Amino acid sequence: MHFAMTKAAKKHFIKTFGCQMNVYDSERMSEALAELGYSAADTPEAADLIILNTCHIREKAAEKVYSELGRLKQIKQARQAEGRRTIIAVAGCVAQAEGREMLARAPVVDLVVGPQSYHRLGGLLARAENGDAGIIDIDFPQIDKFKHLPARSNGARAVSAFLTVQEGCDKFCTFCVVPYTRGVEYSRPVSEIVDEAEKLTQAGVRELTLLGQNVNAYHGEGATGGVWSLARLLRRLAQIPDIARLRYTTSHPRDMSEDLIALHGDEEKLMPYLHLPFQAGSDRVLAAMKRRHTRDDYLELVRRIRAARPDIALSTDIIVGFPGESDEDFTRTLELVRDVVFAQAYSFKFSPRPGTPAAAMANQVTDEVKSARLQQVQALLRAQQSAFNGACVGRRLPVLFERAGRSPGQLAGRSPYSQAVHAIGHDALIGDIVEVDIIAAGPNSLEGGIVGALNEGTQDVTPASQPGTDWIS
Ligand code: 5AD
Ligand code: SF4
Repeated sequence: MHFAMTKAAKKHFIKTFGCQMNVYDSERMSEALAELGYSAADTPEAADLIILNTCHIREKAAEKVYSELGRLKQIKQARQAEGRRTIIAVAGCVAQAEGREMLARAPVVDLVVGPQSYHRLGGLLARAENGDAGIIDIDFPQIDKFKHLPARSNGARAVSAFLTVQEGCDKFCTFCVVPYTRGVEYSRPVSEIVDEAEKLTQAGVRELTLLGQNVNAYHGEGATGGVWSLARLLRRLAQIPDIARLRYTTSHPRDMSEDLIALHGDEEKLMPYLHLPFQAGSDRVLAAMKRRHTRDDYLELVRRIRAARPDIALSTDIIVGFPGESDEDFTRTLELVRDVVFAQAYSFKFSPRPGTPAAAMANQVTDEVKSARLQQVQALLRAQQSAFNGACVGRRLPVLFERAGRSPGQLAGRSPYSQAVHAIGHDALIGDIVEVDIIAAGPNSLEGGIVGALNEGTQDVTPASQPGTDWIS
């Protein structure tokens, strides 16, 4: 009895850095912690356990962890002065990459746990609670961690959820730490994914984004035996009646198979949005990156995808200043952006990551040059994004409303093209797909007026009044 009470009183706080897979992992950790008697705290000051779920993809991301640990040290000391213990854990890719070094550099850390070991969190925490220090678990176990994590809880959920279907990468692009921090490519079995998807819909989820570092390389054990592709998996998930929308990210151009491209033309629930990183426009740089595709391969792929789904919104990742990238090479990147025309994109300065081949290349580009190139490519991408958003004004788009917006009476949702859309509407529409007339566009979002509802039970919605424009960022 007494034990149960102590258990229920424990609180945790998870701070998540980096990619969507970390967001997903944090959710799973939080659910595992609930089973161990930890509830969520609103602030780190109120938490007995603080977990930083970290990102190692670029140097800046990794450095953020150490500055955060500096702040946490003060919190830990302040709590200690009040007689309260705090366990500080570092999870995610920095934990995996730095392991023991992390404990030496930041002694405030009690526990270092890599992304493949979250199912062992309970045992690790028990040791930390017993006063053990310097606990490390960064093994790549052969067992499927997903099977050993508790099933997804039925608690109320957001309308849109992530679902990891594939993890790790075997591509070894020369700039990238992912194969080292997330390990070899692994696809979850179909039945496990379908179970999780059904569980999520029972908790109110309407949109699923399937996650994987190389999601379109998915090749999981099929529900009826054999190996299923991502397209087949998506087709199966589309049969779940409560799933209204499906997305997936991140894809590699080499794994964009015919069946997946065709699905963009066939499957209504598959949203017309695709994140397809090309990284660089010069074939010389692409070869040095070991991307295993050329600029023409990428253009041809885009042509085929657009043939299947002409209105698809394309997104990409671009790296500027890869070792040896000349002005001429960089011009090829700008050209490729102009040739493809993106709806949105992410662009980064090359960041040498310890242990990767590119970090050891001799011809590194100066930071000054990288900054200038980044500015140039971002100006072009911003213009393309604004043009894409601007072209939506006057269109009627089906919007899945996800939550209340920033101003009173306002709802926030997403268009099929993944744009944020705001409109005045009743809270009861959260979770519904509603037709919205787009009346204004900002660089990062759209604004519209609700014209009616597509879903049963929301037919009687009264037309919204004209929303203000103050939300446009
Ligand atoms: N430097 C800069 N950007 C990188 N990315 C991955 N590794 C690096 C690096 N070393 C970018 C790539 C990738 C995205 C997730 O992060 O563009 O697609
Ligand atoms: Fe990294 Fe993606 Fe290349 Fe894999 S395919 S090494 S995750 S950039």
